[in-house]
Amino acid sequence: MKYRETRYRRYAADNSLSIECLEMHTDVVRYNQEERIEADYRRIHDEIEQYGLAEMKVQTFFGMGKGVVILGMQLYLLFVWIGMLTAHRLDGAMLVYLFMLSDQLCGSLWGYAGMWGRISEAWEPIKLFLGISSATSRVCDSNSVEPMRIPQQVSLEFCDVEFNYRAEEPVLNRVNLHVDAGKKVGFVGRTGCGKSTLLKLVDRLYDPQAGAVYVGGEDVRRWPLKQLQRVCTCLSQNGGVFFSDAGLLDTLRFAKPDASFAEVVRAAKLACIHDEIMGMQDGYQAKAGEHGKNLSGGQRRRVALAQAVLSLDHPDKKIVLLDECTSNLDAETEAQVLNNIWPLLEGKTVIVVTHRLSAIDGLVDEVIEFAEGRVARRFAGRNLDLFAGNLYAEPVTRLAGSYTT
Ligand SMILES: Nc1ncnc2c1ncn2[C@@H]1O[C@H](COP(=O)(O)OP(=O)(O)OP(=O)(O)O)[C@@H](O)[C@H]1O
Ligand SMILES: [Mg+2]
Repeated sequence: MKYRETRYRRYAADNSLSIECLEMHTDVVRYNQEERIEADYRRIHDEIEQYGLAEMKVQTFFGMGKGVVILGMQLYLLFVWIGMLTAHRLDGAMLVYLFMLSDQLCGSLWGYAGMWGRISEAWEPIKLFLGISSATSRVCDSNSVEPMRIPQQVSLEFCDVEFNYRAEEPVLNRVNLHVDAGKKVGFVGRTGCGKSTLLKLVDRLYDPQAGAVYVGGEDVRRWPLKQLQRVCTCLSQNGGVFFSDAGLLDTLRFAKPDASFAEVVRAAKLACIHDEIMGMQDGYQAKAGEHGKNLSGGQRRRVALAQAVLSLDHPDKKIVLLDECTSNLDAETEAQVLNNIWPLLEGKTVIVVTHRLSAIDGLVDEVIEFAEGRVARRFAGRNLDLFAGNLYAEPVTRLAGSYTT
């Protein structure tokens, strides 16, 4: 059992390495590390072979043991029957018949023993799957959740929120923040200070260890999870959903599977990606590849943005969380994208996380500076010049033309 379990764990490692290699193939080649990866593969395969052989030895040993027991049983019965034959309590025909029956019985026992082996073999991947799914399903509906009535506008509040991914490594440190319903807020702060983590607590990718997050005045743990996720659109930092086999039309539709072609085109135009898609040989049928590898970084970002735009069509969408939504875009495209999508955010409560002040300049009502896992300072949205020269933020680059707010 132990050997089999380890063998299946090595299969899983083999699988992960294959996926990682596919994702990072370019960098592996650039760092000239193909041989090292090959060696890792070889090591994993050697281990699989080694555990497989050890398992086979154990199975052969038990198989021989089983054989000896069954053969012993048959010999014992034969011995008894021959005794009965010599005592004239059994005739020859009956002896042959009984021997045939015992042979068939032993054959069935062999079969059942083999079936047990196959069942335990099938159980190993199930165990791995259950391990993975139970590790990711810590956040779930409690028994007492009731569907919420969704107001016209929804406020957002963090009350004494503390959170860590690993014990003894605090990431969020008593965060207190209220965002009024319908307000637009920019989040800035040094890399690694916890901005993206804070957003993950809103639609409950994680729950805080202490304190609470309130959406529309209700603790998020009292919201039905599905309804909460319907209320929020979150474009995560490296977001966007890409499947290797899907064309761009289906990739964009991922956020709204029943979207018409016209709706998809509208979202692509708002995200400034339509013209580039039309310039591709297969247009909307072009494949984005695994993780969008056939697209440039900026194209991937805009496809992800178009997905988010499509998801905004749902009337329940009240909160929009944009994490570095214009990273990888040149200044002109960034301005155009923001100009296009900002009117869609009218009336919604919005948080924009950014290192580029140009992404929020003149757009947000307030800027929150985050430091060491807590709110450090708050500025009125029109006071971004105060950030100029700041260590972590670029100086405000006022772009040609003003955004429509
Ligand atoms: N899934 C995770 N597991 C463990 N630690 C994590 C995980 N995600 C983030 N962290 C850690 O939490 C801290 C905060 O990360 P977070 O992504 O929230 O920072 P950030 O402010 O968004 O940074 P950036 O500006 O670089 O995007 C970092 O120290 C990071 O290493
Ligand atoms: Mg981040």
